Amino acid sequence: MKKILSIMIAAFLFSSLAVYGSDTQAESETAAPAAHSDVLVAYFSATGTTKGVAEKIASVTGGDLYEILAAEPYTEEDLNYNDSSSRSTKEQNDKNVRPEIGSEKISLEGYTTLYLGFPIWWGEEPRILDTFVETYSFDGITVIPFCTSGGSGIGRSGPNMEALAGSGTWMDGERFSGSVSEADLQSWIEGLK
Ligand SMILES: Cc1cc2nc3c(=O)[nH]c(=O)nc-3n(C[C@H](O)[C@H](O)[C@H](O)COP(=O)(O)O)c2cc1C
Repeated sequence: MKKILSIMIAAFLFSSLAVYGSDTQAESETAAPAAHSDVLVAYFSATGTTKGVAEKIASVTGGDLYEILAAEPYTEEDLNYNDSSSRSTKEQNDKNVRPEIGSEKISLEGYTTLYLGFPIWWGEEPRILDTFVETYSFDGITVIPFCTSGGSGIGRSGPNMEALAGSGTWMDGERFSGSVSEADLQSWIEGLK
């Protein structure tokens, strides 16, 4: 009887210890703030080229990736720049168009550097970038635009977006080909400092 009692006491002590242990673990899990990099690489990419460069920049910087997706995805037809009535041509011809963003809104809290990537459409940023920069505040954030294109430079995309954003410290942007190497991106980033 004595033995049974001592086993019962031992079992009780063990189970309360286990419960106590799991409680403290749960507390520390909920109390710790979610850690993330202070670098964010946000990009829009209609056909994947800018996405590839964004991923290389994230790899070089250890930054987080955020894809700006159109609520209404662009079809091949929409992207036909030989058609004066295609969606992309019409959007680029009207500086007031703001295509809706479909991706979940991101909190920029804790980020101090934002690489902002896009393809060049008719010499400048696609209108959905205008939607993006008007949606967020870039206070305390250094914004570094980058783009891919068939050959055109970044043009006035950076100053266009800076004026629309009205916040953030904007740096000169850069144009890359889709095949740019991580080593070349690394030396571009080092040159920014
Ligand atoms: C509507 C549209 C307009 C474009 N205008 C230009 C342009 O003015 N100059 C240029 O060099 N490339 C232009 N391009 C080519 C894209 O900039 C290039 O293919 C880019 O790398 C695509 O990036 P993405 O795959 O991330 O969408 C245009 C492409 C599209 C779809």
